[in-house]
Amino acid sequence: MLDGRTLAPIRLGNDAAASTATQSAETQGEGSPLHTAEEIMPITTEDTLRWLHQVAVVLHENREFLTQLDSPIGDADHGINMDRGFQAVLDKLPTVAGMDIGSILKTVGTTLVSTVGGASGPLYGTAFLRAGMVNAGKHELYEADVVDMLEAALEGIKARGKAVPGEKTMVDALSPALLAAKEAEAQHLGLSQLLRRASDAAEKGMKSTIPLLATKGRASYLGERSIGHQDPGATSSWLILKTLADTCG
Ligand SMILES: Nc1ncnc2c1ncn2[C@@H]1O[C@H](COP(=O)(O)OP(=O)(O)OP(=O)(O)O)[C@@H](O)[C@H]1O
Ligand SMILES: [Mg+2]
Repeated sequence: MLDGRTLAPIRLGNDAAASTATQSAETQGEGSPLHTAEEIMPITTEDTLRWLHQVAVVLHENREFLTQLDSPIGDADHGINMDRGFQAVLDKLPTVAGMDIGSILKTVGTTLVSTVGGASGPLYGTAFLRAGMVNAGKHELYEADVVDMLEAALEGIKARGKAVPGEKTMVDALSPALLAAKEAEAQHLGLSQLLRRASDAAEKGMKSTIPLLATKGRASYLGERSIGHQDPGATSSWLILKTLADTCG
């Protein structure tokens, strides 16, 4: 499974990233069920490590972009926070190679909680911890496991941050992603399509935060002035899911 895949950095700037996402949805023939051999290949521990490695690369490359998004409606630190957290994850990856996927994800969670301050550290930390708990002992993830993982992560974020959809947070990217993943699973579209649809739904959800009024987190202090800006946390959530689709789909 390692063959033909790359750890080379990918650029995911604003528009470039959006067009890449659209392109891949188109070229994969959205809507037509695919039942090739590749479609039933699970996500392995190696895939999980590759995903996390690439998330660190992508968040590092988008450090300025995420920080800029956090500038008008926050304290201009989201890119710095996410980059710090995932560079620490990158350092930890060699120590978790060979472990089951649940243990790998739990290590990501504890690393994020201990290295990222602010709101996003505990929120993403909880998400990865919960994702790890539902995948405890697993070395391969199939469609239902991915749905369970997304659901657990989202429930963890909601439990910790008390946000519901429409409050201009990462929940606005992750909720539609979970819904899309559930629909893809019900339609037996295969893992690749499931991941791509979840990523595309997260992107749409991220864009939907622009006109929203923030009622949670630092952005809520701005009231009406939070309207018209894309939420940084919804953007990092999309980047994480897009990287999952790109590396494991
Ligand atoms: N209660 C919440 N529930 C879900 N997501 C939240 C919540 N509060 C903030 N967020 C998300 O966190 C993102 C901001 O993350 P960031 O890393 O910038 O932390 P922060 O808000 O600056 O933390 P602090 O204010 O402590 O410095 C927001 O864009 C939003 O998506
Ligand atoms: Mg901030």
